[in-house]
Amino acid sequence: MENSLITRSGSLSESRRKFLEKAGTSLVLASLGVAFFTSCSTTEDADPISPNPPGNSSNGITIAGNTITINLSIQSALNTSGNWLLIQNARTLVANVNGSFVALTSVCTHSGCDRNWTFGNNRFTCTCHGSIFDPSGNVLQGPATQPLTQFGTQVSGTTLTITK
Ligand code: FES
Repeated sequence: MENSLITRSGSLSESRRKFLEKAGTSLVLASLGVAFFTSCSTTEDADPISPNPPGNSSNGITIAGNTITINLSIQSALNTSGNWLLIQNARTLVANVNGSFVALTSVCTHSGCDRNWTFGNNRFTCTCHGSIFDPSGNVLQGPATQPLTQFGTQVSGTTLTITK
């Protein structure tokens, strides 16, 4: 079991997203909704992650082998459609798409970036070089040509289980 987690999550309102697109920036709500940051979407991201101290499981995310469990009472933002999470240590993207959870590898099939992601309008964008994927992992825009691997998701009560 691994308790040292690095996560990134976010959500954008339509008006806020359009404002940021005009400004040429993207906004991501950092881990646990505590901190905000902006980054330029045309360059390699600075690393705006919010690491949790080793042994801190208070974020409700547990990684055990190929299984990730997320306590949706703690990660409650994920209950809202359009919100998403990057679990960097597990190289996994999770999003709520119209009330259903999807999970994909965060390792981009273009050249392997695994942490420079944004999500909006039901699309994951790898900001390393601009590849865009749908919630099933299919390529909508290159340079990537191969889909992202999709993982299984199951909800039981307030626990989301992702099986890689
Ligand atoms: S590594 Fe994702 S677009 Fe290049």
